[in-house]
Amino acid sequence: MIFTVAIDGPAAAGKGTISRAVAERFGFGHLDTGLLYRAVGAKGGDPVAVARALTPGDLERGDLRTLEAGQAASRVAVIPEVRAALVAFQRKFARREGGAVLDGRDIGTVICPEAEVKLYVTASAEVRAHRRWLEVGGDEARVLAEVIERDRRDAERAVSPLRVAPDAVRLDTSELSIADAVAIACDIVAKRLG
Ligand code: CDP
Repeated sequence: MIFTVAIDGPAAAGKGTISRAVAERFGFGHLDTGLLYRAVGAKGGDPVAVARALTPGDLERGDLRTLEAGQAASRVAVIPEVRAALVAFQRKFARREGGAVLDGRDIGTVICPEAEVKLYVTASAEVRAHRRWLEVGGDEARVLAEVIERDRRDAERAVSPLRVAPDAVRLDTSELSIADAVAIACDIVAKRLG
């Protein structure tokens, strides 16, 4: 069975948590596509060459979840050749046998426009920054500034900007618990599976 769940949205909206839970519930594979860009940004050097030579081991570095790695990711993510180098792997994963959940910024719009389910997961910038701050600590105002800056860069870039796909279901998690957001997402997938 080929079945793709595309989960897009701004920074720290809860895409990762929802994606992992949906993948586990339905036995689908999960790809956190942000990790690809984080790994390219964290490695340094020529981002295009790094993206072309990315290996699974590069995704296992322990420092990919930091604010700095997030900023580095969004800087390399504006480079068309970097995005192009990562497309084939993501498309192949999306259409793998047994079902797949991919989360990112351009999954439902560019990587897999034919996805069977598209969710656009969002929340207010303050709520998202608070959640990210609980993970990374430090100064909450700085985390908020970082989230806002990254959202702006992701939405304003020329290639594959962050957009809501016309056929995506919008899920605002500002006032939802994780369990409620996961339940809504699983319901949508279950209905589409029939
Ligand atoms: O976890 P969080 O939502 O904060 O970020 P992420 O999904 O790990 O993505 C990090 C950065 O990679 C984003 O700010 C984007 O610039 C970039 N990215 C992208 O351009 N396209 C994707 N499909 C996924 C991430």
